Amino acid sequence: MLRSHTLFIVFVLYAAASWAQSRIDVQERLFRFREVPELTEELDATFFANNRERLRDTLPDSSVVIVFSAPQKRRSNDIEYGFHQDPDFFYFTGIREPNCMLMMFSEPVQVDGRWMREALFVEDKDPKKETWTGRMLGIEGAKEQSGMLSVFPNHEFKLMKLPLDKIKHVYANEYQQVESDDPEDGGDLSSLINHCRTKLERANLELIHYKGEDLFAWLRQAKQPKELLMMRQSIDITCEAFHTVIDNLTPKMTEYQVEAMIEYVFRASGAEGEAFPSIVASGKNGGIMHYTANEDLLIPGDMVVIDIGAQYQGYAADITRTLPVSGKYSEEQKQVYQLVLDAKKVATRYAKPGYKFWIPHEEAYRTIGKGLIKLGIIKEWREIGDYFIHGTSHYLGLDVHDAGLYASLKPGEVITVEPGVYIPEGSPCDPKWWNIHIRIEDDILITEGEAEILSDCIPSEISEIEALMQGERASNE
Ligand code: GLY
Ligand code: MN
Repeated sequence: MLRSHTLFIVFVLYAAASWAQSRIDVQERLFRFREVPELTEELDATFFANNRERLRDTLPDSSVVIVFSAPQKRRSNDIEYGFHQDPDFFYFTGIREPNCMLMMFSEPVQVDGRWMREALFVEDKDPKKETWTGRMLGIEGAKEQSGMLSVFPNHEFKLMKLPLDKIKHVYANEYQQVESDDPEDGGDLSSLINHCRTKLERANLELIHYKGEDLFAWLRQAKQPKELLMMRQSIDITCEAFHTVIDNLTPKMTEYQVEAMIEYVFRASGAEGEAFPSIVASGKNGGIMHYTANEDLLIPGDMVVIDIGAQYQGYAADITRTLPVSGKYSEEQKQVYQLVLDAKKVATRYAKPGYKFWIPHEEAYRTIGKGLIKLGIIKEWREIGDYFIHGTSHYLGLDVHDAGLYASLKPGEVITVEPGVYIPEGSPCDPKWWNIHIRIEDDILITEGEAEILSDCIPSEISEIEALMQGERASNE
């Protein structure tokens, strides 16, 4: 009796210990990522005030700039989407609330007896609303955040008399108008836009966004030192997410489990979340450029295109790696991978001041064309576009596809370099190439000399990726 009792206790203790151990294993696996050191720098009112000053310096006489915040979008019934601020509005104010409007004049103007060169309209604090949807800046908070003195509750705009008779040019951002609960008096974004249009129309002026786009792009395309700090942080966090994936990727995992791992690392490392929906596209899904369903199982022998970016203080990273699910690329996968990697290196060499924005793409295109012919995947030059279907670069910053003039490259600009080859099933080539989809993307900083690869914290060479994945596999066994 005593013996069986003891045995039972031993069994219970053993079961509890192994349960605890398995919990620890799961936790260790979950938490096995190196935390990115916290960044203590923040974008402050001086930064936003300086951006407004730089904008004013570019304005012709007799002009006004009008920048609207993003609207709060409704997801369904009374539930809202997470709020994402309009990047132009954020760049000039630092405010991350909906229902706001910024006005900047090239010369001081008198509005209802007060002289000003800029005015900001924000939502007044509403304790009831704050109880439901969170703290609001209110007038004083908006002054502090933006460094502006003339800040008004947005419902006051309707009755304000703006001296628009002397204005010749109106520059606006690409605002988004959503249906309003109270388009007349609510003071929400929709009513601000409507009242603004009416006031301008009375002065024979129009609210057209494209006139402002180049002006804003010209300022935003080259990054200031503080912006680069934010971008380095979002890139470092994204690198850590990649390392976590490399450490934990195994066949039979699902794409959404990989996505969950990535987004866990983003948030756990202090990012606001994803700068765009994460793309985890295995096997044939890799041929869908913006695949975000992330619902399939990872199959041994397949590759997985992972195109992801953290967002940190508004700034985006955008990095892609194509990983072998089983830890080793097949011979055909290696050949195409090396070609895309070579194209990325060539394009990066041409990403220098003085070259036109499209030169890196043209050089990547040429490299891929020559390689596809050599591998026998295409016969004619004109077939390249069937397999390399997108541009190589875009600007990166507050937007993933950031504002920029797409003219000549200049120091301080951050762009992506992301060639890709996609060979769908049924393509007119040897079936051994079918369903090989590869994209490799780095974020680079244009300098006076060679471009700096900001995302080289995550390797892209075949041997390095395989070594990391094999090493991890061995240590997990
Ligand atoms: N990261 C997605 C894209 O550049 O389109
Ligand atoms: Mn990209």
